[in-house]
Amino acid sequence: MLALFGGPPVRTRPFPAWPVFGPAEEARVLQALRSGQWGRLDGSQVEEFERRFASMHGCRHGIAVANGTVSLRIALLAAGIAAEDEVIVPPYTFLSTASAVVEANAVPVFADIDLETFNLDPRAVEAAITPRTRAIVPVHFAGLPADMAALQRIADAHHLTLLEDAAHAHAAIYRDRPVGSLGQMASFSFQSSKNLTAGEGGIITTDDDGLAARCRSIHNCGRVEGGVWYEHHVISGNYRLGELQGALLNAQLDRLAGQAATRDANGAYLASRLRGLPGLLPQARPADCTRHAYHLFMLRLDPAGFGASRDAVVPALEAEGIPCSPGYGYSLPAQPLFRNKAFGPYLAGIRDRLDYRSVDCPNSDAICRQSIWLEHHLLLGTRADMDDIAGALEKIHRHRDRLEAR
Ligand SMILES: Cc1ncc(COP(=O)(O)O)c(C=O)c1O
Repeated sequence: MLALFGGPPVRTRPFPAWPVFGPAEEARVLQALRSGQWGRLDGSQVEEFERRFASMHGCRHGIAVANGTVSLRIALLAAGIAAEDEVIVPPYTFLSTASAVVEANAVPVFADIDLETFNLDPRAVEAAITPRTRAIVPVHFAGLPADMAALQRIADAHHLTLLEDAAHAHAAIYRDRPVGSLGQMASFSFQSSKNLTAGEGGIITTDDDGLAARCRSIHNCGRVEGGVWYEHHVISGNYRLGELQGALLNAQLDRLAGQAATRDANGAYLASRLRGLPGLLPQARPADCTRHAYHLFMLRLDPAGFGASRDAVVPALEAEGIPCSPGYGYSLPAQPLFRNKAFGPYLAGIRDRLDYRSVDCPNSDAICRQSIWLEHHLLLGTRADMDDIAGALEKIHRHRDRLEAR
C-alpha cells in the first residue's frame, strides 16, 4: 500500500543534508575572523577564491559579488546594455534572470524552452530577435549546459552578448569546456540552496580583460584600478563579497570537484533506472553535456502516460520518504510583476508598449504543470539511495489507480 494511505514507506532514513561542512570550514572562517580583516578590500580570502573559482571554470577573471542577482545586473551593465535594449531570457527560471534585466533598465524578452532539456530553445531565440536585441541570457537549467553552440551562432550572427546564467551549474562541463567560460561572461550564485554556497554570494567569470575591469569597477563603487580612492567613474554601488563568506567558499570549493562527480554519476544512474517507466521523463541529457551539475534532478510527468497527475504524485513521493517539490508554479511572464509591469522607476518611458500578458511559452507552461524537482543533495549519497528514489516512483506507478488522475 502507498505510504500516503498508511502503507510502509520505501525509505525512512534521511538523505544527505545540505550544506556539507566540518573542521575545514571552521578553520578557514576562524582564520578570517581572527585576522580582523573582514572586508574584501582588507583581507585575501575573497581574492584567493576569485582566482581559484575562475581558473576551475576556464577563465582568467572572477569578480565575487553579494549574490547571483547583482552579478547578472553588473554583467549586463558591463556589456554596455543601454536603456530599453532587449535581452532574451527563458521563461522557466528563477525571477532574477529576468528581473536583473529590468534593473539594468532593459527589456526582458521571453523565448520558450525545449520540452526535453528544459533549456532555451535556439529556434525560439532566433524568432525573438528584433533590431533592439543586445544580449541572450541562457540558464543552464538544473545544471544541464544549454545549447551553447547554437546560441553562440545566433549571437555571432546578430552581434549579441552571450551571458551564461550559471547559478545552477557550478563545475558543469559542455563539450569538454567548463561552464562559465562558454559565453563572454557568466554569473554564478552561492545562495544557500546552490551546489556551492556561503549562504549568499555570487561571482562573474570572464576571460575578457575589458569586461573584467568594468565588472570590477561597477562592483566597487565605480573605482578603477590604480585610481584615487574617492574617485568614482561610473554609476554603481558596493556589491563586494565579505571575507567571512570568502573564507567559507574557499573551504567549500575544496569539496566541489568530488561532489560534482558524485552528483553526475548518481544523476546519470537514476535517469537510467527510470527509463521505461511510462509517462516519466527525466531531463534529457544531450551528448554535448560532458558533466551535468544536477543542481536539480528534474522529471516531467506526463499524466496521460503515467496514469496520475503530478500534483497527486508529489505528495505520494514525499510520503514514501523522498523529499521533492513541484518547482515553479507558473512561467515568469505570468508573475504579477510582469503581468502588471510593476517595474518601479525602470522602463518608465516605454511601459505602454510592453505586454507580458500575451507572451506565449507553451513548453514552459507545460513544465510548470508537470515537473518534479529533487534537490542536488539527494544525489550526494550512494547508488542504493538512487534505487530508493526509483523504487518509490515504481511503487507509485504500480498503485497509480489509487491516485486521482487530474
Ligand atoms: C537561475 C538563477 N539565476 C539567478 C539566481 C539568483 O541568485 P541569488 O539568489 O544569489 O541572487 C538564482 C537563484 O536563486 C537562480 O536559480
